[in-house]
Amino acid sequence: MPMRSPALNVMANAALKAARGLLRDFGEVEQLQVSIKGPGDFVSTADLKAERTLRAELTRARPGYSLLFEEGGAETGSDPRHRWIVDPLDGTTNFLHGIPHFAISIALERDGEIVAGLVYDPTRDEMYSAEKGLGAYVNDRRLRVSARRRLGEAVVATGIPTHRGTAHDPYLAGLSAVMGATSGVRRMGAAALDLAYVAAGRYEGFWEFGLKPWDIAAGLLLVREAGGYVSDLSGGHAMMTNGDVLAANDHLHLALAALIRDAIRSAGAAAARSADL
Ligand code: IPD
Ligand code: CA
Ligand code: CA
Repeated sequence: MPMRSPALNVMANAALKAARGLLRDFGEVEQLQVSIKGPGDFVSTADLKAERTLRAELTRARPGYSLLFEEGGAETGSDPRHRWIVDPLDGTTNFLHGIPHFAISIALERDGEIVAGLVYDPTRDEMYSAEKGLGAYVNDRRLRVSARRRLGEAVVATGIPTHRGTAHDPYLAGLSAVMGATSGVRRMGAAALDLAYVAAGRYEGFWEFGLKPWDIAAGLLLVREAGGYVSDLSGGHAMMTNGDVLAANDHLHLALAALIRDAIRSAGAAAARSADL
């Protein structure tokens, strides 16, 4: 049984409360009123209700903390050292299509560093949690990343870009390289859970570009605390600012990074050549 800090208890209770509402709404998903926020980016009333619950619970327990909520944006509190980073519903498209693969993601940042992370999957009742230096858990079970060492045996998750008007060629070059080198690619549609699944050893790796801090803040800590490695595509650690994430077990991180980087570089060189013709 993990020893939970008071902060993690606050996060778990808030997530459980918000999840009850999400599950009720998921049951009525067809009746949900949906308004379009932007191409490929919906916001449902369920998101907003879950966010209201999370905000109320978290600020009641820690009134001064700063906030970064997906829908509500950033707010500086009387205690700027601490910040909640929250995605009330990760996997909105799944949710709106009745696909039971979505989660609540809550992270606690202290002095710019993530010190606690929680990802809760209400349909499977799987609560992933981690605290810095104290390991990662799903419910009461300790998590370890996968021990597989061969790329050819790896199952790797990704997020496929959906935004229109963006050039997808570099992404597709990376995808094609990973398809050819591994035993399978998965695209499940909830980045917070993708990272949790890397922490749980279900996927050997995960990469996606253009993610937001609330998609990844909790998941990055889960992977690290489960013994995995996370970086951005260039091998740096600016994931929270540039949104590019590559998470994997230690054995495969370097190989996956090189595979994707080289494929993107070659695609860029080929595009430049054809532009010159
Ligand atoms: C999205 C999901 C998806 C990822 C997108 C995210 P949302 O978050 O995590 O898997 O591919 O980039 O925006 O909109 O469902 O909270
Ligand atoms: Ca999200
Ligand atoms: Ca969301």
